[in-house]
Amino acid sequence: MSDLSNYIKSDDFKKEKHVPVIETGAIKAGAPITVTVTVGKEIAHPNTTEHFIAWIKLYFMPEGGKFIYDIGECRFDAHGASADGPNKGPAFANPAATFNVKLETPGKLIAESYCNIHGLWESSLDLKF
Ligand code: FE2
Repeated sequence: MSDLSNYIKSDDFKKEKHVPVIETGAIKAGAPITVTVTVGKEIAHPNTTEHFIAWIKLYFMPEGGKFIYDIGECRFDAHGASADGPNKGPAFANPAATFNVKLETPGKLIAESYCNIHGLWESSLDLKF
């Protein structure tokens, strides 16, 4: 195990608000798949200037593959900050991201999310087709 893996947390998303939830549309080899990753699907995560989800990343590990593939990432930069002060701004980004990817083999989608206070969180979803 690498050092980083010791600090990535995971849990049941229905009990833990930091866990990214991966959902897909129809899955077919070689066809575009819509993948949505949401943090706080069951229990909303706070979204304030002081406490927020900074980013979501999505990876793909092909079944029987040697290496993991980086699909993409989404940064959330609006957390209510403004010249009037913290949480007085007009924009609060919700931590949800949609990716679109064409996959040629079955495998596992792995999502990471980062809370500025509570660190790194992970979940995965097996894709069969
Ligand atoms: Fe948090």
